[in-house]
Amino acid sequence: MAEYMTGLKRTHYCGDLRLTDAGNEVVVCGWVQRQRDLGQLIFIDLRDRSGVVQLAFDDHTDRTIFEKAFGARAEYVLAVKGEVREREAKNSDIPTGEIEVFVTELRVLAKSETPPFEIVEQSKVKDELRFKYRYLDLRRSDVQDKIIGRHKIVKAAHDYFDSHGFLEIETPNLIKSTPEGARDYLVPSRIFPGNFFALPQSPQLYKQLLMLSGFDRYMQIARCFRDEDLRADRQPEFTQIDLEMSFADEEEIMAIGEGFVRDVYQKVLGIEIPLPFLRMTWKEAMERFGSDKPDLRFGLELVDLGGVLAGTEFRVFSGALSAGGSVRGINLKGFADQLSRKEIDKLTEWIKAYGAQGIAWTRLTQSAETSSFEKFLREDEVQAVREAMGAQTGDVLLLIASPKTKVVLDSLGALRCELAARFDLIDKSRPNLLWVTEFPLLEYDEDEKRYVAMHHPFTAPFVEDIPLLQTEPGKVRARAYDMVLNGHELGGGSIRINDPALQQTMFEALGFSKEEAQERFGFLIDAFRYGAPPHGGMAFGLDRLVMLMLDCESIRDVIAFPKMANSGELMTASPGLVDAQQLDDLGITLNVPSEEN
Ligand code: AMO
Repeated sequence: MAEYMTGLKRTHYCGDLRLTDAGNEVVVCGWVQRQRDLGQLIFIDLRDRSGVVQLAFDDHTDRTIFEKAFGARAEYVLAVKGEVREREAKNSDIPTGEIEVFVTELRVLAKSETPPFEIVEQSKVKDELRFKYRYLDLRRSDVQDKIIGRHKIVKAAHDYFDSHGFLEIETPNLIKSTPEGARDYLVPSRIFPGNFFALPQSPQLYKQLLMLSGFDRYMQIARCFRDEDLRADRQPEFTQIDLEMSFADEEEIMAIGEGFVRDVYQKVLGIEIPLPFLRMTWKEAMERFGSDKPDLRFGLELVDLGGVLAGTEFRVFSGALSAGGSVRGINLKGFADQLSRKEIDKLTEWIKAYGAQGIAWTRLTQSAETSSFEKFLREDEVQAVREAMGAQTGDVLLLIASPKTKVVLDSLGALRCELAARFDLIDKSRPNLLWVTEFPLLEYDEDEKRYVAMHHPFTAPFVEDIPLLQTEPGKVRARAYDMVLNGHELGGGSIRINDPALQQTMFEALGFSKEEAQERFGFLIDAFRYGAPPHGGMAFGLDRLVMLMLDCESIRDVIAFPKMANSGELMTASPGLVDAQQLDDLGITLNVPSEEN
């Protein structure tokens, strides 16, 4: 039978006890990490969220207590009273290693079956098992530390924004579906059969309406939902640190944003980040690094070879250039011996996922110069390419050509990161932060055969670019900015359109008729007729911030109960089927193959 805490009140967390507590009577509670029975002596390591302390039982211990200690197994929950004593054999590996608690009272508050895996740090348990028993996984101190770190970061966010005059206001989670961007998660309505709410992809429209209402500075730790494919830095359900400001321009919002990041690094990790952050236009980021979220912790910049290859007769290159595309390359300096032909072949396969057909390469090893393409070029062209890329003995040149410049940039951008990781070129000594600015307002969607908003349809264009909206929409720059941390998009935002006429022009550029725009965003269009202050804002991905600050590989590590790669959750086995009655109430008939329903 389990015992009760009655009469025992915890005085300390296990991990907080020190030599200065020696001689004091304390009460600690926690889980049995391990029990060692040495015959006349029993030791139990008791664990709580603060750490572990050793409990000691010997021939001076009351026999019934000694018996209970003898029977204690891993993960039993105990409350003990005892005296803190200096240890004879000290353990310098743990903070409580100089003391132990000599137990005078012990209650077994709960027993435990043998857990499916041992609760120890850095254990190599398979993900399926870890996440099926996530509540046990979360007992491991290294896993717990991430969740505690997340709490500190959230606390720092509340404090920072409060001290800068932001009001925290909650916005609804059952909203109208306004598809644009990712796919919505839908929630059927019982009262309005056949109608659906959507879960918010972000609080975007509501926070803009709060500016209209005069709240001036808003923030929220907001849960967002996007039905999109998962990656290491993406979850279908994630959290934003969301903010919006009235009467503020880009400079003010970016100053608030970078001030927050500096503050949180300083408070949580004691790391000083210099301000202001570097800024780079989207165009420069794409051209130099092949990415709108460039990782500047290493070089490997892209070189445009369009100029030196303008007259080439080699069809792979001339074809790409004459079709309006490009030929660009990366010089992997000094690794010719480490990047074999075979490895290049593997990279060639790998890069096809980014749309590239292949990699043209030159290896300049000490012993030989080999190339997949130089034999097709004139000697002066070979020299010009090598010179443009700063080639020397020991280097590997990797070139990509495509009639689509986007393919060249995307694939070289990905290759750059892959090579840096593989050859350990990343300077991990400090966080690398920058702003990317002047994004295109619109991008052409080949599938939909129309322009779509790169951020969202409420982002304001550069004032001087407004006339281009009707003539060359692809050239219009957005008053949008992304914050990049170590090559991840940490946050992004923009100045919003607050002029109903301009908003209408924007909807037209996106191919919405007046009726469609009214149907989707009517409430916002109407609201803007009643005095909308100039406003703008941004949102940070909280999970990404925590992941990067705490040096984790996946955002899954910093979410207490995350989803797996297929968007499901193993522990509760969700998503799951529902009763026929529940579907009936909603007026829903399923149309899925019978083995799935
Ligand atoms: P955006 O869509 O760029 O902007 O999102 C802002 C930040 O949220 C994080 N993020 C994600 N994190 C984890 N999993 C995901 N699936 C995911 N998707 C996005 C990223 C990203 O930078 N309303 C606008 C902001 C604004 O304009 O104020 C918005 O949501 O870190």
